[in-house]
Amino acid sequence: MPDVVVVGGGLIGLATAWRLAVAGVEVTICDPTPGAQTSNVAAGMLAPVTEVEFGEDDLLALNLASVNAWPAFAAELEELTGQPAGLHRTGTLSVAYDADDMALLRRVADYQRRLGLEVEDLSGRDARKREPMLATGVSGGVWVPGDHSVDNRQAVATLLRAVELSGVELIRQRVTRIITSGTTATGVQLDNGETIDAGQIVAAAGPWSAQLDGVPQELRPPVRPVKGEVLRLRVPEAYRPALQHTVRATARGFSVYLVPRPGGELVVGATSTELGYDTRVLAGGVFNLLRDARTVLPITDELELVEAIAGLRPATPDNAPVLGPSGLDRLLWATGHYRNGVLLTPVTAQILADTVRTGNLPELAKPFLVSRFGH
Ligand code: GLY
Repeated sequence: MPDVVVVGGGLIGLATAWRLAVAGVEVTICDPTPGAQTSNVAAGMLAPVTEVEFGEDDLLALNLASVNAWPAFAAELEELTGQPAGLHRTGTLSVAYDADDMALLRRVADYQRRLGLEVEDLSGRDARKREPMLATGVSGGVWVPGDHSVDNRQAVATLLRAVELSGVELIRQRVTRIITSGTTATGVQLDNGETIDAGQIVAAAGPWSAQLDGVPQELRPPVRPVKGEVLRLRVPEAYRPALQHTVRATARGFSVYLVPRPGGELVVGATSTELGYDTRVLAGGVFNLLRDARTVLPITDELELVEAIAGLRPATPDNAPVLGPSGLDRLLWATGHYRNGVLLTPVTAQILADTVRTGNLPELAKPFLVSRFGH
C-alpha cells in the first residue's frame, strides 16, 4: 500500500507527488490523462502583483511566497531531469488603451503601491520603449518587474519526468470514489473497479474536486468550473520577438493578456465564463481575444493562429485555494486554485508535503482550510 495516493495529475498533483517522493514518501498518482486538462490550457502567468484583487490579502501572501519559490523549484526540477521547467523571468507590462482604461490602471497601481508591491508608472511612450510593437494608441502603462511566466506545457512534461525519476507510480485511471471507514478515508476506487488502500490521500482534482463520490456532500469543497478560452499564436521569424515581456492590457474596458515564449509562441488569454463543464471553443471567445489583442498589438493580424483551446479553472467563492484537512481523517485537499494554479504550484506542493509528513498545516496555509466555508 502506498503511503499517499494523489488524486489528479495536473501541475498541483504532480508537484505534490514529487515533493513527497523527494522526502522519502511512497506515492501513487491516479489520473487517466495527467497534465492534459487545466494545466495544459493555462497561459502560465506568475502574476501575484498584476492579478491582485482588492481585499485578497491572505491570497496575496500565498501568491508572493510561491512566486519567490519558483526559481529554486525550477532549478531543482531542471537539475533532476535535464529538461527545462519553463520559467521565464521577464517582468510584466500592464498597459491601458483609452483614458478610462488608464484611470483604472492608475487606481490599481495605487492599490498595489499601498500593499508595498513594486510597480512603476510609465507614459505611453515609455511603454513603447519597452515593447516597440505596442499600438501607438496605448496611452500608458505600469511596469511590474516581479511578475513572470512559466511555459505550463514544459512544466508538465518536466514534472512528469521528475515523478518518474523519483519512483512515483502513475496509474492512468480516474478516481471515482474515496473509500471511507467511518470518518476516515482509507483508499480510492478507480474507473476500472480496482481499489487502492492508502495511508493518506491528497485530492488535487481541480475543477472535479467536488465530484468525488464517497466524500459526504457537506464536506466537499465548493469548487466550480470557470471556463477560459486561450489562443496560441506563432510569431513569424521576421517579427520576433513581437513581445519580450508578458503584456496585460485593458483595451476599451476589456482585459486581455499576451504571454510570449522564447520559441516564438504568443499565448493570448483568456475569456472567463460560467458554463459548467463545457469546454467548447466559441467563436465569440476567439473574436473577443483577437479584437483586444490587436487593439494593443496590431501585429497580431500577421501571426499564425495555431490553437484555440478551452479549459476549466477550479474556482471557489473567495477565489482562493482549498488546502489541507478535509474533515475526513487522512484526506487532504489541494484544490481550488482558480486563476493561480501555475503560480501556486511550488508553495502548494511544499505545504501538502509538509502536512502529510508532520500532520501540521503550515501557518501560511491556515487561511485556506475548507472549514472557512462553514464545513
Ligand atoms: N491567471 C489567468 C487566468 O486565469 O486567466
